[in-house]
Amino acid sequence: MSIAMANGHKLSIAHDSTQLNIEWNDGHNSEFLAVWLRDHCQMPESRDAHSGQRLMNVTDFPLDVSIESITPLDNQHVEIIFSPLHRSVFSLDWLEQNAYDKHLANDIYSEQNKVLWDSSFSTDKSVFDYDDYLNNQDTSRALFDHFALYGFAILENVPCKEGQILDVIDTFGYVRDTNYGKLFEVKTQVEPNNLAFTNLGLGLHADNPYRDPVPTVQLLHCLENTVEGGESILGDGFKAASILREESQADFDLLSQTWINFRFQDKDTDLQSRVPLIEVNDNDQVVKVRFNNRSIAPINIDKHKMKAFYKAYQHYAEILNRTSIMIDFKLTQGQLVMFDNTRVFHARKAFSTSGSRWLQGAYADVDSLYSLQSVLSRQTETDARVTSNPSAKKTSN
Ligand SMILES: [Fe+2]
Repeated sequence: MSIAMANGHKLSIAHDSTQLNIEWNDGHNSEFLAVWLRDHCQMPESRDAHSGQRLMNVTDFPLDVSIESITPLDNQHVEIIFSPLHRSVFSLDWLEQNAYDKHLANDIYSEQNKVLWDSSFSTDKSVFDYDDYLNNQDTSRALFDHFALYGFAILENVPCKEGQILDVIDTFGYVRDTNYGKLFEVKTQVEPNNLAFTNLGLGLHADNPYRDPVPTVQLLHCLENTVEGGESILGDGFKAASILREESQADFDLLSQTWINFRFQDKDTDLQSRVPLIEVNDNDQVVKVRFNNRSIAPINIDKHKMKAFYKAYQHYAEILNRTSIMIDFKLTQGQLVMFDNTRVFHARKAFSTSGSRWLQGAYADVDSLYSLQSVLSRQTETDARVTSNPSAKKTSN
């Protein structure tokens, strides 16, 4: 049976009643299995009208649920009667947006939704004024969009007072408290428990790979910086992983499929994890990267993989040493850099012992930042609709 919709889409039901077929205007043919359609019923008895959350369970219908009939209701909706008896109405827009063979699963954390960069990247558009960020929604949205695409952003003119970094986190999410405290001081210490608290240079790394879950946003607020050197360095870990994949698929596969241990110990702490250096999702897209030479624990993997693992690990480390993937800048008083610790690696150059360098650091979770970005984006779309169609304002009220 084939049904032509007035808007050009063609609907048909497969002869065995197990699926709905739709030929979209672009010529693509989507198949929707009956069991999937039944599970995604959008009717009030299946979805909470307020939250949109499912009211039914996956066990409420049999695996061999079938389609008895399909009836177009208008240009935009189709009625489906299932057996066992159940009636659903779907909008074609919803089906097109959710056609599982038309769109790759959207993963906001994966490289699919990022713009990868290297040393040629200009940070001109990465710097945002703090007051403007606080008071202008376009600026805050621009900062979140920049962070989501490139994995970092810089705020300037942030008040230079101790603990200010926690107020900055409050503007987009929640502080991630750790054994280092709600915030940590990055300045030279006597007998530090971490090389970060010395004046030594540090190579590109991610923080806290030994923690589960790993903190996703790291912030560093510069309160003083009068030393020679001490420039901050960032490198796009997703770019490094993509270079590794280009240069050796085998090395990439090995690092994404081999789990290794990280560990951090001091007198009060013993944190451990077992994770891959490059984490991919089910579509083989990079979603997280890790690298931290200081906290990698004894490597315990299959002895037959060991030599190949070291080849891949050295290859990855060599890429992370290339200046062609790094950007560097000197944080000045009142600047705050924030970056996605699961995507962007950070480093710093050694600095002199004369003068002072005082940063305060803290961690936060990136999911709340993405949530706020999405809500602001929705508001902007609504505002745009209201502006282009004044009658929409009445409806939304
Ligand atoms: Fe670090």
